[in-house]
Amino acid sequence: MAEEIEPCTYVIFGATGNLSKLKLMPALYHLEVGNRLPADTVILASGRREWTREHWIGEVRKMIEAKARGGIDEKVFETFSSKLQYIQGDLHDPKAYEALNDRIMSESDYPKNIAFYLSIKPGDFGAVVENLSNATLFDEAHGWRRAIIEKPFGYDLESAQALQKRLHRFLSEDQVYRIDHYLGKGTVQNVLVLRFANVLMEPLWNRNYIDHIQITHSEDLGVGSRGYYYDGAGALRDMIQSHLLQLMALVAMEPPVSMDAESLRDEKVKVLKSIRTIPQSAVHAHAFRAQYRSGIVNGEKVNGYLEEGDIPQDSVTETYAAIKLFVDNWRWRGVPFYLRTGKRLKKGQSAVSICFKRPPQQLFKNTKIDQISPNWVLMGIQPEECMRMEVTVKEPGLTMKTRTTSMDASFRQEDEQSTDAYEDLLLDVIEGDRSLFLRYDEVSYAWKVVDPILKVWAMERDFINSYPAGSWGPEEARRMFAKEGQNWRHSLDIEDGTDG
Ligand code: BG6
Repeated sequence: MAEEIEPCTYVIFGATGNLSKLKLMPALYHLEVGNRLPADTVILASGRREWTREHWIGEVRKMIEAKARGGIDEKVFETFSSKLQYIQGDLHDPKAYEALNDRIMSESDYPKNIAFYLSIKPGDFGAVVENLSNATLFDEAHGWRRAIIEKPFGYDLESAQALQKRLHRFLSEDQVYRIDHYLGKGTVQNVLVLRFANVLMEPLWNRNYIDHIQITHSEDLGVGSRGYYYDGAGALRDMIQSHLLQLMALVAMEPPVSMDAESLRDEKVKVLKSIRTIPQSAVHAHAFRAQYRSGIVNGEKVNGYLEEGDIPQDSVTETYAAIKLFVDNWRWRGVPFYLRTGKRLKKGQSAVSICFKRPPQQLFKNTKIDQISPNWVLMGIQPEECMRMEVTVKEPGLTMKTRTTSMDASFRQEDEQSTDAYEDLLLDVIEGDRSLFLRYDEVSYAWKVVDPILKVWAMERDFINSYPAGSWGPEEARRMFAKEGQNWRHSLDIEDGTDG
């Protein structure tokens, strides 16, 4: 497989930073393990420190040792390290880009297809792209040139538009790879497979049969060392505007004409475009925010958000956000979508939970029968990777009693290894497959969805609700539910199903 792809020079800006350490370098190493990197690939790290290549290889070894699945494989690491290069340069210095260009163009073993990974502060995206362009590094005369932009793409709709305008002065849309790493997760891609490679569910996948849909990403971790970034972002921007709206688009979209990037993204955009605008006057009925205070997580006492590093004492940044959305189209009109995320919650888990309507008639009402539970389809994204369907069956015995049972379509078999989202995405860049990257219109419609909420919250600077770390978030968030009987689904297991 690796032989079929043309090699490239992967330039990583911010190569010594956290993302590179935790995700990018381990992902590239795992691609090497799987023999997916073309033999002549060069991975060129750009950093501010005056490091030699040997020093850099030593640093990468530490990153890989910490993350390699099953431990580092010395032979693979040797091949991998032969691909590693280092160049010192200041992001803000135009001369650094000339030096970069000279290095790549003058040395014959650097492939002239170049991918630039911008693992840097979002505020620097525009300037770095401009510098790259001025140094003719986006000129495709000698090979393709692609720029990978990490999230967040803008801070709100207006800043996203400004960033887009700036990028497009130097790059064409097909050179831009906007990352939403959620789309690289196998279980997220499996949503499409489950929906469109089976006929079982699709006829039921609409307002006639579905009562409501919940999309949850909960974390037991706090903000850790990312306080500075996080306090300026908050849960709505950090998770909902990007990852959860993308997941929602996959759940709600129409079947695409084909799986090519444009057909797929066209259908996602149609969903995002059909989400009913929340007027500022209705924000409180549709959105809820809160911040964690101290509490117990996994048996350990943890600090509240205001005690974390780099957080101002009067911060009202939300670490929990829940929103209710409606998709005004033929398929979904009237079905609430509840999107919820939070840090320092009881458990780290991502899932899509689909609650079906109850049968039209309670046929068993005169028999000894418990109240029949609705059917649920549960898609575990992480850490449990599963697709479960809860159905009602008769309890064995002489009385007509029912109970719920769960059918499980596992995503992964026991001997199959999991891969990280970044492996898939980094490989897609080399292969020129943009289907798992965001097109600008997706980003901009997603900002339109959250913008009214952000505006109202930005005005309300005096108070924010709180929840104890280790809980499932604030009780008050339940007020968003559209109907009696709807409630947060916290678990993929039957026993502790919804929390009443
Ligand atoms: C990132 C957010 O995009 O996604 C983080 O900035 C969040 O705050 C993370 O923790 C969640 O992704 P994953 O893949 O680690 O569950």
